[in-house]
Amino acid sequence: MNEHKTLKEQLEEAAQVLESKLQGRKPKIGIVLGSGLGPLAEQVQDAVYVPFGDVPHMKRSTATSHVGRFVCGELAGACVIAMQGRLHGYEGNSAQEVAFPIWLMHRIGVCTLITTNAAGAINESYSVGDFCIMTDHINFTGRNPVEGTEPDEIAFRFFSMKDAYDPELRTIASKVANRERIPVQMGVYLGLLGPSFETPAEIRAFKAWGADTVAMSVVEEVIAARHVGMRVLGISLCSNMACGIEGASPSDEEVFEVAQRRQGDFCKLVTEIVREIG
Ligand code: HPA
Repeated sequence: MNEHKTLKEQLEEAAQVLESKLQGRKPKIGIVLGSGLGPLAEQVQDAVYVPFGDVPHMKRSTATSHVGRFVCGELAGACVIAMQGRLHGYEGNSAQEVAFPIWLMHRIGVCTLITTNAAGAINESYSVGDFCIMTDHINFTGRNPVEGTEPDEIAFRFFSMKDAYDPELRTIASKVANRERIPVQMGVYLGLLGPSFETPAEIRAFKAWGADTVAMSVVEEVIAARHVGMRVLGISLCSNMACGIEGASPSDEEVFEVAQRRQGDFCKLVTEIVREIG
């Protein structure tokens, strides 16, 4: 018979396995690498690789270009753990399943989360290829990973989402970008479930709500991270203009093509941010 394990028990089991595979490494910074942004993981030195499937209770990644493994080692003098590929709701994962690796990283000692993605730009003053530091978000997934009784056993369920995107980390990220001459914007991110791209009418509505960028990830991770008190930095690569903006009609190919083109600056930006906060 399959005995039900609570979320807390599952996290404890997963943490034990992950920790043993890290062979003494003690990462303090977690990095989630979004669509087409995985190559940063190749710059991690003295790395160990742990496929998501080797960690009990963790779902596997099925999204294009998302390798689906943890990469732990040294980046810019800091011990980091990167998720090369993430779990999305549109892959059929529940909000809690999407959040699981975030809670897991926290459980093994990670206190700062840098989460990244490719996003559509709603703000017309942005350009394709710009990076955008998230200042806040609108959760339009209709879901919340802290829902239910079990997450409440990990940490209290009512917590503030003010300054969810750490103001100090935002300042550091923007200073690093300016120093490295990498174009960055600062804006409000809207996360939804996908996998269909938005309609032009939806994008007009989101614009009226104050959203600057839109994509299909990040918000559930950030809610989970704040639930357990992690500091969060969110960075999008504007891989396309959102549907209907300047006549755009987004496609997966465009997202990956731009991510590939902007990989160099992305790696430099995140590495130098890690060096500052390390
Ligand atoms: N919409 C939703 N998700 C995305 C987009 C977009 O325009 N670009 C990259 N991910």
